[in-house]
Amino acid sequence: MINPIILSGGSGTRLWPRSRRSHPKPFLPLLGERTLFQQALDRVSDTAFFAQPTIVAGEAHTRFITEQAGQHGLIVEPAAKNTAPAIALAASLLPREAIMLVCPSDHHIANEAAFLAGAKKAASLAADGNLVSFGIAPDRPATGYGYIKLGDALGDGHRIERFVEKPDLDRAREFLASGDYVWNGGIFAFQAGAFLGELAKHRPEMAEAVAASVEGGSWTDERFDPDAGQFGAIAGESVDYAVMENTAQAAVVAADMGWSDIGDWNALFEARAAQGGGENVLSGPAEVKSAKSVMIDTDGPRISLLGFDNAIVVVDGDEILVLNRDHAQEVGKLDGAANQ
Ligand code: GDD
Ligand code: MG
Repeated sequence: MINPIILSGGSGTRLWPRSRRSHPKPFLPLLGERTLFQQALDRVSDTAFFAQPTIVAGEAHTRFITEQAGQHGLIVEPAAKNTAPAIALAASLLPREAIMLVCPSDHHIANEAAFLAGAKKAASLAADGNLVSFGIAPDRPATGYGYIKLGDALGDGHRIERFVEKPDLDRAREFLASGDYVWNGGIFAFQAGAFLGELAKHRPEMAEAVAASVEGGSWTDERFDPDAGQFGAIAGESVDYAVMENTAQAAVVAADMGWSDIGDWNALFEARAAQGGGENVLSGPAEVKSAKSVMIDTDGPRISLLGFDNAIVVVDGDEILVLNRDHAQEVGKLDGAANQ
């Protein structure tokens, strides 16, 4: 049995104004009727392979989680400390030999069968003590991802020769050109004990603080609250920097599953267009003429657009974003997004 762990934290400011601190990206129906978070749960709902999922989230997200998923195994972080402590909490509450599949709550995966096949391969490598990432074929020198250099073949995957989290643009270009690297998809399979062992090796203080917060924590029905004082003292760090860059036990399985982390409006445009949106992608009342590569997403006012290419227009309540697609990465820097 694979134990799904769904991570929900952070707030994607690059999808502002649709995604806001008060209503973050995972809990929005950005692609289809189910929210990205609900789709993450749907992907691991086959009880032939998956145990009941556990959700790890901050208090601010618990309202959405209950609304959208009902009662679930839930670990509530007293403070946001990034993904390494979040995963360590989940690992600490499982038997050491349990296989965990760590899934972000804000990704889109078009091909669920390929995801499931990848999960089975990853789980089998994880059962041998490897810390397994899902590798995605890169198509541009993106700087927001981890880069994985493939090593020798191992089972249905490869050893990781080198893991570099979020390289600068020059290095990203170099990695892409070499053909030797894949992106880290941000989905991981570990044996709980193997993960905690590697964390203790590379970040001993974090491992001890997480263990103490679990020791001092408490259960209320299916909800676990770690000790806030112990957890609050942790220096936050992502699993990529804390463990994956350092461990010698890393492996990767290729997963050609139509993956996107919907990192900005352009990525959402592409995912919607791939679902059959055509050249221009419209949601809500909108009319577009003499325009190519335009997306309109309005929750109220009718938008009419004439004679613009490469544009994205988003209307969300009292905010309107008019965006040239080439600048989608920079939306988080707008005052509206930063000071919401
Ligand atoms: N519970 C919890 N607590 N979840 C968190 C926290 C936290 O403090 N911080 C982030 N998360 C969740 C996010 O909601 C997301 O679902 C997932 O963990 C990954 O965090 P991101 O903040 O989105 O990471 P990233 O996108 O910068 O980088 C990661 O994902 C890339 C692929 O999308 C890395 O793993 C990269 O190496 C990878 O390429
Ligand atoms: Mg992300």
